[in-house]
Amino acid sequence: MHIPVLKKEVLEYLNPKTGENFIDCTIGEAGHSSEILERSSPNGKLLGIDLDKSQVERSNNSLADYKNRIIIVEDSYKNIKQIVEDKKFEKVDGILLDAGFSSRHIDDSGRGFSFRKDEPLDMRYSLDNDLTAEKIVNEYPEEEIEKILKYFGEEKFSRQISKNIVKARQAKRIKSTFELSDIIAGAIPMFAKNKHRGLSIWAKAQIGARSFQALRIAVNNELDSLEKFLPDALEVLETGGRLVVISFHSLEDRIVKNFFQENKKLNKLEILTKKPIVATDSEILENPRSRSAKLRAIIKI
Ligand SMILES: C[S@@+](CC[C@H](N)C(=O)[O-])C[C@H]1O[C@@H](n2cnc3c(N)ncnc32)[C@H](O)[C@@H]1O
Repeated sequence: MHIPVLKKEVLEYLNPKTGENFIDCTIGEAGHSSEILERSSPNGKLLGIDLDKSQVERSNNSLADYKNRIIIVEDSYKNIKQIVEDKKFEKVDGILLDAGFSSRHIDDSGRGFSFRKDEPLDMRYSLDNDLTAEKIVNEYPEEEIEKILKYFGEEKFSRQISKNIVKARQAKRIKSTFELSDIIAGAIPMFAKNKHRGLSIWAKAQIGARSFQALRIAVNNELDSLEKFLPDALEVLETGGRLVVISFHSLEDRIVKNFFQENKKLNKLEILTKKPIVATDSEILENPRSRSAKLRAIIKI
């Protein structure tokens, strides 16, 4: 089951009130959106966006009670401006972006987001995307794979891992998450020389976490989407409107932080969170995914 991250804090900074309109750019299973709709009752509207068709279906189902107040579209938040124009969605009082994947992607997408399950190396949010993780590991040049692992995964063994990937793919195409995590484990000095064969799935998962994250970010072009999204989101907001962004990766958080600071200097916004808001210990205990969440919020002036 998906538990919305930093829900109390999202509501505090988004501060929905009766009759206000909101955009949830990553509606997922509508965990945040259902609360936003409750608080903006009886007539506030919500525009939801998700790149994943099955998430659009799920959120439509779980928000069936609010069907007269919602529009949900299958698209990327990087196209927020165009979507708002197309849907004639006016007077935007708040925008939420809760980046990355949902627990659904891990639990039952069958698309290789988790190394705990043996699944095809896919990692796409949208099946319309031509790029998959399988394509990257089997077809990209070694240096390109190394860069992805180093930059998006901050993986210090990126060189050894990319070398091992290229060696393995010469024998046969790498197709599954378990094949890839074996290759990654075999590239890390401590586990090389076949010692990794005795490792538990859990241990291999820990070793491969950074590389899997890096591939997911590359497949979905996540950082570029965020860069494109931020200025357009600010433009779309009403004066006095709030923008709340939750990120899970230090590179994402840096992009958000820099954007907010630059626009504060230009007197376009006020920063509501001096430091990023993080999950409490009890939230982390209940929902381990919240461990790396960082929330930043602004108000447009
Ligand atoms: C962390 S989940 C959001 C969960 C949601 N806040 C909730 O409470 O149910 C992130 C969602 O963003 C979607 N997503 C990822 N990249 C996207 C993009 N560029 N545009 C729109 N949706 C995206 C994923 O498919 C996923 O459903």
